[in-house]
Amino acid sequence: MVQLHEQVLRDAHQSLIATRMRTEDMLPICPDMDQVGYFSMEVWGGATFDVCIRYLNEDPWERLRKLKEALPNTPLQMLERAMNIVAYRNFPDDIVQKFIHYAHRDGVEYFRIFDALNDMRNLERPIQYVKEEGAHAQGSLSYTISPVHTVERYIDDLLTLQKMGCDSICIKDMAGLITPAKAYDIIKGSKDAGVAVPINLHTHCTSGMFGLSYMRACQAEVDILDTAISPFSGGTAQPPTESVVAALKDTPYDTGYDLDLLMKIRRHFLQVWDKYSAFHKINALRFDPSVTTHQIPGGMLSNLMFQLEQQGAGDKYDQVLAEVPRVRQDLGYPPLVTPTSQLVGIQAVMNVLFGRYKKVPTETKDYVRGMYGQPPGEISEEIYRTILGPDWQDEVVDCRPSDLLEPMFDQRKRELEEQGVLRKPEDVLTYAIYPQVGLKFLKGEAREEELTSRQEPVVRRPSFPAAYAIDVNGVTYNVEVKSADLIQVNGIPHSIKIKSQEQTEQLPDQKQEAVPAQSSGETVNVKSPMMGSIIRVNVSVGDRVKKGDLVAVLEAMKMENDVTAPASGVVKSLNVSAGKDVEAGTVIAVIET
Ligand code: CO
Repeated sequence: MVQLHEQVLRDAHQSLIATRMRTEDMLPICPDMDQVGYFSMEVWGGATFDVCIRYLNEDPWERLRKLKEALPNTPLQMLERAMNIVAYRNFPDDIVQKFIHYAHRDGVEYFRIFDALNDMRNLERPIQYVKEEGAHAQGSLSYTISPVHTVERYIDDLLTLQKMGCDSICIKDMAGLITPAKAYDIIKGSKDAGVAVPINLHTHCTSGMFGLSYMRACQAEVDILDTAISPFSGGTAQPPTESVVAALKDTPYDTGYDLDLLMKIRRHFLQVWDKYSAFHKINALRFDPSVTTHQIPGGMLSNLMFQLEQQGAGDKYDQVLAEVPRVRQDLGYPPLVTPTSQLVGIQAVMNVLFGRYKKVPTETKDYVRGMYGQPPGEISEEIYRTILGPDWQDEVVDCRPSDLLEPMFDQRKRELEEQGVLRKPEDVLTYAIYPQVGLKFLKGEAREEELTSRQEPVVRRPSFPAAYAIDVNGVTYNVEVKSADLIQVNGIPHSIKIKSQEQTEQLPDQKQEAVPAQSSGETVNVKSPMMGSIIRVNVSVGDRVKKGDLVAVLEAMKMENDVTAPASGVVKSLNVSAGKDVEAGTVIAVIET
């Protein structure tokens, strides 16, 4: 007999509708879902936490309690990113321990714990905390393909997870890469090598191989398969629950689930699917066997498309896909799962937009330093040098990354008390994990995003005055748009008329009048390299800066990027402050050389 682990309330809607499903769409069908007899239902963790507070104005803890109330007979599962919990960076042990404690108290019985790098040092503590709670620990391995990710290595790691006390183990194939042969070899090999706890296979439909792989997994005596009720299945989500149930009927792997009941659940989610039409993406529903080469998981793929479009580089999609495997090799073959998928994907974007490793976000540097854990494969000295500089050896750490972090819970609790917004202990965790978005939510300042928001085209309205630095054949012009018909180029006013494309190209040569900024030797602009928002400004007007000094930190594509001074001099003006959204080319500061 095979059991199923239903994914519709977490991974499947995360993969297909950007995790936007509301609790109100879940609760009405829970009494029926509770009768199916699933091994468990994954309902929490992953991106659900972030999206609840960021876009839905819903308390994720509240959702969890309501779901547990509505699903008393079904073990609820959360996806727990080891030391990253439900975010993208490491937290100290006390936060991880408290999070697991309250998640368990509010309704999570099964914890699926994974680490992007399969670093056992990162998995150890969360597994221990779950065991201390008396809950079910499902140790999970990120599945990927690379020269260093062999069948033998997976079997060894699964044995280690069992030794660490896991109640079940999972092969988490987040990009739908597992072939029937690999599924069979790893599962059969593990059982033969002494893995006695149940084995769970998680996959996505992206590559189209899932049916064959699930069948071979059954033949290797897999215990649990992950599926999603059909309206939220296929494409970048999981295989359809009803189809797997029907396919295995009257075989030794029969789930024994009631297909009529599943059809009733299906009808409910068909309506829910329609409600989120603004988030449907045809590409997320197609098979994409090219995933077997670039290995980008579904969620990341749609995110990457979105980020590229935002940077005005939608046409570079294929180049970025080709760059991803190269970056991955450079970085020691990390499996592509949050947060390493984001890290590798965005580094590939930046390599294509600006040249290889010309721009390296803080997160990539931290990864190379070992702050996420041990990379699975080797990183060459050349890459270390390129990314961290000549003193790279001093920067690389070899301890468990969270050992470097101080306990945080009490401090965050005091901060919330001072703000007067602490209502329950869980709030401290919301705030500790998402300091800005969490605080905004706890203060009651979050707004529910409109369901139609994605359908509306993005219209950028010009606002005046605006400042741009425009490069023409390598010469920079400081253009200030004063009004709809007046601009200043390097301080000299010009009147403008908007003409058609053809006429614009034949405008009289104004180059002689305009004084190029860089050749003047007087002022140099510090420009935003990308669209994003300013997190911090590190200089004040009047400060003396050296070439390469940090001027501001820009968040672009969810990564932090240092914006540095292109020349030495004195900061003459600052055009942005923290929190301000900027375009590529927006002048952040002007330096007088
Ligand atoms: Co998944």
